[in-house]
Amino acid sequence: MTTAIIDQLMGETAPIKSGERCGPLKETLCIEGGHPLHGLVRVSGAKNAGLVLMAASIMADGETILDNLPRIRDVEVMIEILNDIGVDTSWNEDDSLSICPPAGKVKNHTSYDLAKQMRASNLFLGSMLGRQGEAIVSLPGGCDIGSRPMDLHIKGVAALGTEVKIEHGYIFANTKQPSGARVYLDFPSVGATENIMMIAAKTPGTSIIENAAKEPEIVDLANFLNSMGARIRGAGTDLIKIEGVSSLKAGRYAIIPDRIEAGTYMVGAAISGGEIQVENIIPTHLHPIIAKLQETGAHIEENDRGLLVRAGNKISPVDIKTLPYPGFPTDMQSQMMALLSLAPGSSMIVENVFENRFQIVDELKRMGANIKVEGHTAVIEGVKNLYGAQVKATDLRAGAALVLAALTAEGETEIEDAIHIFRGYEDIVEKLTTLGAKVHKGYMEGEYTD
Ligand code: UD1
Repeated sequence: MTTAIIDQLMGETAPIKSGERCGPLKETLCIEGGHPLHGLVRVSGAKNAGLVLMAASIMADGETILDNLPRIRDVEVMIEILNDIGVDTSWNEDDSLSICPPAGKVKNHTSYDLAKQMRASNLFLGSMLGRQGEAIVSLPGGCDIGSRPMDLHIKGVAALGTEVKIEHGYIFANTKQPSGARVYLDFPSVGATENIMMIAAKTPGTSIIENAAKEPEIVDLANFLNSMGARIRGAGTDLIKIEGVSSLKAGRYAIIPDRIEAGTYMVGAAISGGEIQVENIIPTHLHPIIAKLQETGAHIEENDRGLLVRAGNKISPVDIKTLPYPGFPTDMQSQMMALLSLAPGSSMIVENVFENRFQIVDELKRMGANIKVEGHTAVIEGVKNLYGAQVKATDLRAGAALVLAALTAEGETEIEDAIHIFRGYEDIVEKLTTLGAKVHKGYMEGEYTD
């Protein structure tokens, strides 16, 4: 689209900033393929840890300061929710975020308009119950990657003495007889584990979560709550034990680095035939990703600064099954699919966590990939080249995968609904440009819809 048309459509208004709603225009990402990534990339703070820590911050009295929080759209939505329920927030000069709940109660419900923008808003169920024993949280509604029920969250908070009813699209939760309890999760849900940890941290007695999620973000939440005076042990294993305390005290905390952002850039080096140094990572969090990338032929070396990642001479086909941590993360599945599209031979991906996470397939096919899907399984026959095309980011990680495919595709790719990508990747245009990619934001007509 020409600059003149953009100017006409936008009038005299300022350019759209990353992450903002764009009225009649929506953002695209345009990438010219064929420029291998080279250089240094610094990984930002973990989106999924940042979001839950922001929700948990309302459980403490006083000012919480979070360091290493990424400036991404999901964080901005979380700030909007905090402000909407009466919590003050401000970005500090050193890029930390201050979160100051009021002295009394916060507004006890999250609005559907904000909640529908981001499923992580459901984390206010545990933090509001932990703070004030009542919460009205919007049900998340449908989602591009599959049905995302809340039954395990509800089972957990109910076991700890909370009455729960669901009416008019909201969960109404009221803690009547708070008392520690044993909760077995049928599936190690990340969100359910987090919500139960938060309410249990303030519930008298001992609570035990069995078959708990073991993701690094769970450990970060436990460390954060413990730094405020909570008594949580076992986070990172499938049995978490929580002794309830009567109050938590605010402080300062630095969020762990984002293992999925790191993994995405690592695939970027492998797919584009490049070599990059990845900084600000915790290598153990990346083991499942490192192992699979090495199987595809990428060279990965741990050094003092993080990881050095170099593309192999060729990409070998591999099979992947997504699983809860420490299995291969579902949040890296689409990016690996982009890479395997170029691996001569057959690869198979089985998606075990979300039922509808193959929407990326049709978009990659528009770029020349050869992929067939049957239920939860995708079979990928490697092709020689991908071609630039107009494609659409259907969700955050699908968008990231299209960026990766575009880096190596012949010609230019224009990715529609790029706002999904800005939900989770801080400064992606700047970071890729520094690594030598030819990428810029563009605009196209049409409303963005969630
Ligand atoms: C979190 C992450 C997301 C990641 C996912 C799995 C955040 C903000 N998001 O999402 O990026 O992809 O973990 O690693 O941290 N389930 C139930 N009942 C429930 C809850 C979940 O059946 O009550 C099922 C879901 O339908 C899904 C599976 O459990 O099939 C995993 O979901 P869950 O671990 O809860 O993911 P989220 O916490 O939503």
